[in-house]
Amino acid sequence: PRYFALIPAAGVGARMEATSPKQYLKIGGKPMLRHTLDAFLSSELIAHTFVVVSPDDPYIDAVAPHHGVTVLRCGGASRMESVRNGLAVLASTLSRADWVLVHDAARPGLTAELIEKLITGTGDHPAGGLLALPVVDTVKRCIDGEAAGTVPRNGLWLAQTPQMFRYELLREALAAATDPDSITDDASAVEALGLSPKLVEGHPRNLKVTLPDDIRIAEMYLAVSQP
Ligand code: C5P
Repeated sequence: PRYFALIPAAGVGARMEATSPKQYLKIGGKPMLRHTLDAFLSSELIAHTFVVVSPDDPYIDAVAPHHGVTVLRCGGASRMESVRNGLAVLASTLSRADWVLVHDAARPGLTAELIEKLITGTGDHPAGGLLALPVVDTVKRCIDGEAAGTVPRNGLWLAQTPQMFRYELLREALAAATDPDSITDDASAVEALGLSPKLVEGHPRNLKVTLPDDIRIAEMYLAVSQP
């Protein structure tokens, strides 16, 4: 089988409160998105990597390597639309049975080892698979600022990316999804079809950089070797 990476990187990163989109903020002197792309370039299992940016993105040409990465300027208004647009552009490049690993640009701590773990752990699962972490904290339901109940954490996992699916299934799932804002990852669109993707245990270093302090946490993980 062939494995392709698709990285939605068309967000503005409003929660980061920075002047450039967060995927271009530097982590250890290197743009976050470059770390993310390098993880896929360092994996021998990935045939090619595609990155989806906004049509008017002024930064990508200085960041994307010339070999192994293709820039698709088809970002949409939501993450889901960016992925959907990217998949549509690839219709003549990918075949139905090819696997697509969708990965957030904002997760720069990914490693070739984690990519391989996901691919091996998912195997030929008909619903695909994703990296995720079991919840370690006690989970509260908040109503009006008060703890209105405790949700048993047993059986709860936090979704990470990459999330991998056969090209045909992912296109079908995202075409069927109607509310882009309620689809915050690709697996949820596949689950909405009644399918259950495989959960493969990820690693905390694969955090999503969202808030300003997350940059330092990502730098700490990138300074230590692979999981
Ligand atoms: O904002 P958040 O961290 O949830 O975004 C997840 C990923 O989706 C990021 O890599 C971001 O660049 C991407 N995204 C996108 N198009 C959008 C919004 C977000 O590609 N319209």
